Amino acid sequence: MNQATLHKLLASQQTTANMKTHFYFRLATNLTLIKEAFFRIYPESEVAFNDLLALLTQLFAKRPLHLKKQDLERVNVENWYRSEKLVGMQLYVDLFSKDLKGLQEKIPYFEDLGVNFLHIMPITTRPEGENDGGYAVNNHTAIDPKYGTPKDLESLTAKMRSKNMFLMLDFVVNHTSDEHEWAVKAKAGEEKYQQYYYTYSDRTIPDEFEKSLPEVFPKTAPGNYTFIPEMNRWVMTVFNTYQWDLNYTNPKVFLEMLTNLVELSNLGVDVVRFDALAFLWKKIGTISQNLDEAHTIVFLFRMCLQVVAPSTILLAEAIVAPRDILKYFGQGIRTGNECEIAYNASFMALLWNSIATKKTALLYKTLINAPTKPNQCTWINYIRCHDDIGLGLDDQHIQELGWNPQGHRKFLLDYYCQRTDWSPAKGLLFMYNPKTGDGRITGSAASLLGLEKAIQDKNDELLKQSRDKIVMLHGLILSFGGIPLIYAGDEIGALNDYSFLEDEYKREDNRWVNRPRQDWKLITTFSKKESVHLQIYTTIKRLIHIRKSNSIFADNGNPILHQTANEHILIYERSTDSGQGIMVLCNFDEHPQVVESSWIGALGYLENQALYDLVTDEHITLNSGFLELQPFQLLWLKK
Ligand code: GLC
Repeated sequence: MNQATLHKLLASQQTTANMKTHFYFRLATNLTLIKEAFFRIYPESEVAFNDLLALLTQLFAKRPLHLKKQDLERVNVENWYRSEKLVGMQLYVDLFSKDLKGLQEKIPYFEDLGVNFLHIMPITTRPEGENDGGYAVNNHTAIDPKYGTPKDLESLTAKMRSKNMFLMLDFVVNHTSDEHEWAVKAKAGEEKYQQYYYTYSDRTIPDEFEKSLPEVFPKTAPGNYTFIPEMNRWVMTVFNTYQWDLNYTNPKVFLEMLTNLVELSNLGVDVVRFDALAFLWKKIGTISQNLDEAHTIVFLFRMCLQVVAPSTILLAEAIVAPRDILKYFGQGIRTGNECEIAYNASFMALLWNSIATKKTALLYKTLINAPTKPNQCTWINYIRCHDDIGLGLDDQHIQELGWNPQGHRKFLLDYYCQRTDWSPAKGLLFMYNPKTGDGRITGSAASLLGLEKAIQDKNDELLKQSRDKIVMLHGLILSFGGIPLIYAGDEIGALNDYSFLEDEYKREDNRWVNRPRQDWKLITTFSKKESVHLQIYTTIKRLIHIRKSNSIFADNGNPILHQTANEHILIYERSTDSGQGIMVLCNFDEHPQVVESSWIGALGYLENQALYDLVTDEHITLNSGFLELQPFQLLWLKK
């Protein structure tokens, strides 16, 4: 062995030893918390706890070296996920680029747009037929060959890392498919695996649960239990009949799922999306969502990850009431120690409410009354995702505004789901329940905002309005504080895709209408002709660029809301102690609107009688004492 090789070897041995020391240090610091949480959920499970300790060491040993290095490096870049530099996109690999290799080839597209954080929808193995877009998992980490090989993923993540891009993948933590190895063994009669799920020989307990359990998919999967003839037992299936809920009262399930979580993180995942985590614990007499035990399980996962793979952070997919979403950041001494990120589902639903009503009162009321987000945590801000839009609005707030909650929800469904002839929206009604009048909305952002109708009717005025609405909403998610997550296709104003109606496995689930194939033909002909799609793309691209070049857009705390007498306008401000500031204003009305402006000047935004708008890169002179906003105009005033 020559000198150089010897030095290299010694250095690497030292690094390995150093990393191990860090591991034991992390274990020692977090052990009390882990122990307390574990025994809270699994009292008297000494053996399982010892198994957990042994597992943590094994999992650390298997973590790839480059990720162990990253674990140490990221400690020094505290809260990297709150940076203004992050801009995300959510996509289905098959619909976007066919497979993982194809996705890697699309990196220049992301670079051009300014996107550097990807949420890739499930790519793991799933049943051939219906599979809930991959959310029915046959295996939590095995890549489905239709997307490529593990090598392809490795190559993609290596490339992304070299470009400073971040990756988010799903961890379907609440259920597996009925083809998962555990389900197959349960069906074959193996008691051990029947206990991995909630299975019952008769309906006594299921019937007790059903008294208070709501239905997630009442039209296509009514009830919460499915009878499985092979094992002659009922199994809990809160989502679809082929998605079996995991039984977290069994510590073995927690240990197995922790192994899966770390293996997922070892694929080079920066953010793990905890799918449907509000459902992790079930209790008779409750709706079995957001229970304390579910929070303890999330906390346990987080703390174990903190020991084994601390650079991986968690996103809560909790599409629940505003005050319940915030709890997934952790409360009390757990603050910041459940999930670092959560979907800002309330902001999303309220934006759609404001578009339909053209008013911002409910938005203000909800945001003002929401508990504040802990500073070390952040939001995913989004307009659309692959799911439906639920009307997660607070009835009491609706009432306080003088509206009837039921009537208001009906209005929103009518407006978006083609049940009035004057609305520009072309959405579809999802999971409508005629008994309660409850329903949700599907449709692409552009179609919900009128672009599809405008193109069909050749209506230029509507075309312009829908374009401006698309841009305005993106301007809001880019500036609210958090990671903006653009749904693939929205950056070019993609319309609804009705091809799902021809697919026997998709036609019952109209969320597929808002999962269009990426239109590369349109994108590659951009340079040839000016189109509304190109205008949307270039404007969003410019907004992204502005965000990334101004540190004021980083999530440095909750935005300050300013409510004026004008009910169509939304205003919020982000500022720093060093005097930097950005004030975001937008107009939800189809007519120009004004706001009194002296107070804006008094807050330091006026320079030589003018305001400076980052969006247009222009100065706005204030002669009248009022600031005018055009229909659906967005302003980013800078101080
Ligand atoms: C999440 C996903 C949704 C899926 C459900 C069940 O809510 O976003 O698409 O249907 O979980 O896995």
